Amino acid sequence: MASRKTYDRPDLKIPVSLGVIMDGNGRWAKKRLLPRSAGHRAGAENLKELCRNCGRYGVKYLTVYAFSTENWTRPEDEVDQLMKLFVEFFRKYDPELEEEGIRVRFTGDIDSLPENLRKVCREGEERSAHRQKMQLIVAFNYGGRREIVNAARRIAERCISGEIAPEDITEQMMSDNMYLPDVPDPDFIIRPSGEMRISNFLLWECAYSEFWVSETLWPDFGYDELTQAFEAYTKRDRRFGGLSAEDKK
Ligand code: FPP
Repeated sequence: MASRKTYDRPDLKIPVSLGVIMDGNGRWAKKRLLPRSAGHRAGAENLKELCRNCGRYGVKYLTVYAFSTENWTRPEDEVDQLMKLFVEFFRKYDPELEEEGIRVRFTGDIDSLPENLRKVCREGEERSAHRQKMQLIVAFNYGGRREIVNAARRIAERCISGEIAPEDITEQMMSDNMYLPDVPDPDFIIRPSGEMRISNFLLWECAYSEFWVSETLWPDFGYDELTQAFEAYTKRDRRFGGLSAEDKK
């Protein structure tokens, strides 16, 4: 029986900043004897649903892993289809994102993308800059290690110019040199499809994130699975390396 959607759940703790690794499109398609592109298409459709569900639940920052710096090694036609889907997604679903008050931003090595894709990113950000309810942050051509290297290079340049000394480098300075320093580190990271790995996603930012792995493949990860994940998050005792309130007593 399909569940009724309610976002009025004062018993739930909702993460302010949520990361989602959208994994399992290929397996979803294979199970249905469909081409992988059909899985990605269903995955894109589900991303729109996730945005709506997260916005309505009260998530403020939703970062989704759409395309990694390593995904370029996939067969050329799969990469082409993913790029087409990316362009189409914002054209097709922007009215709905607008209606839901969702601002779109991108994180990753956006400057290295071809001009048509950079334009989609630029226009998507400009068009949605005024929206207030939630930020959708699309990790695109994103790699956590590349982001850290990029930050290290920027800081190294300041050392070389004599503006700062190596001993002035702090964790906060590193955070300030990540792609989107104003976005809070993810409180919670969800990975559908059962794989227990981080795959180069938000490596610096995930230091104290809580994790949730679901067996459900990404295109099927809907309202019920999200609610289940939030129920689990509600029970987590976040200690950030310290003691729990209970143990301090
Ligand atoms: C991983 O599943 C998924 C991807 C590499 C692409 C994620 C992209 C989308 C959900 C499309 C929509 C995104 C935007 C921003 C329009 P996989 O193909 O590795 O799955 P598998 O492990 O089952 O093969």
